[in-house]
Amino acid sequence: MGGARPIVVLGARGLVGTALMKALARKSPLALNRSECDLTNADQILKVMDRLRPRMFFNAAAFTDVDACETRPGEAYRINALGPGYLAQAAREIGCLLVHLSTDFVFDGRIDRPYTEEDRPAPLSVYGRTKLAGEEAVRDAGGDWLVVRTAWVFGGRGRGFPWRILDLAREGRSLSVVDDQWGCPTSASDLAKGLTALAEVGARGLVHLANDGRTTWWELARRTLDLAGLAGTPVERISSRDLGRPAPRPVFSVLDTSRYSRLTGSRPRPWEIALAEAIANTGPS
Ligand SMILES: NC(=O)c1ccc[n+]([C@@H]2O[C@H](COP(=O)([O-])OP(=O)(O)OC[C@H]3O[C@@H](n4cnc5c(N)ncnc54)[C@H](OP(=O)(O)O)[C@@H]3O)[C@@H](O)[C@H]2O)c1
Repeated sequence: MGGARPIVVLGARGLVGTALMKALARKSPLALNRSECDLTNADQILKVMDRLRPRMFFNAAAFTDVDACETRPGEAYRINALGPGYLAQAAREIGCLLVHLSTDFVFDGRIDRPYTEEDRPAPLSVYGRTKLAGEEAVRDAGGDWLVVRTAWVFGGRGRGFPWRILDLAREGRSLSVVDDQWGCPTSASDLAKGLTALAEVGARGLVHLANDGRTTWWELARRTLDLAGLAGTPVERISSRDLGRPAPRPVFSVLDTSRYSRLTGSRPRPWEIALAEAIANTGPS
């Protein structure tokens, strides 16, 4: 057989996976979707790893519907906690680096400064708990691993919160957005480039990566509308309690990205600049 061992991306059709496939394009990554590699199927994972023998495996697949996780906790645990463990064990067997994604929702938000990798997680939701268990499973498998926690990801047109806001505004719907949760919006494209940069410098262990700065969902909605030429569209400020979503969210989940900067020698861009670029790149509506 011979030839260089490939780079593989699981969840390649997802928000982050799509951006990763683009960022890795020059390395000809192989895309895997759920039908080819189901995180709930340990046998299939072993077979896929054995057949492809990747040198690097990016796991961008997860059960990401935070509210649905509350009502389907068993499924969330199988996908977000057990699945990454199967991947990590299979990766260890063939000597492959596993790059796994996790979330700011492993934290409870009861802090007044950005979270570092040393801060103790205390998830509030099923999603957060199962994602934390996934991180632990990756670490405990004893292979070669990198876990990157990120937050509030938005992609190109149609993918993520800013686009939902623009669609609603263009349909003339009234907008009410929570103004009591703080986080760091993150461009999927910046995240994907950061993931490849981390892999290139040989980073291992746990790393926080998000765009720079902090904001609320309300301010993110406001900024999105302003950038898209919809400054006249009103947005009502509401509280998380008013919204009444099934899963509790941390009120503050800003990530400290100092470790990322030390490892790669570069600092993430401010979220406002990344958002402006994403909106400008979509052209006129
Ligand atoms: N989006 C955010 O704001 C955010 C924030 C923090 C962390 N993260 C983390 O970033 C990662 C990527 O998130 P995302 O927003 O890109 O998610 P996404 O758009 O929802 O995509 C998730 C992907 O996972 C795949 N998937 C679901 N169940 C699977 C299974 N049983 N086996 C194999 N694949 C399965 C789906 O594949 P199919 O399409 O084939 O079903 C989908 O392509 C996740 O680990 C997430 O926890 C995301």
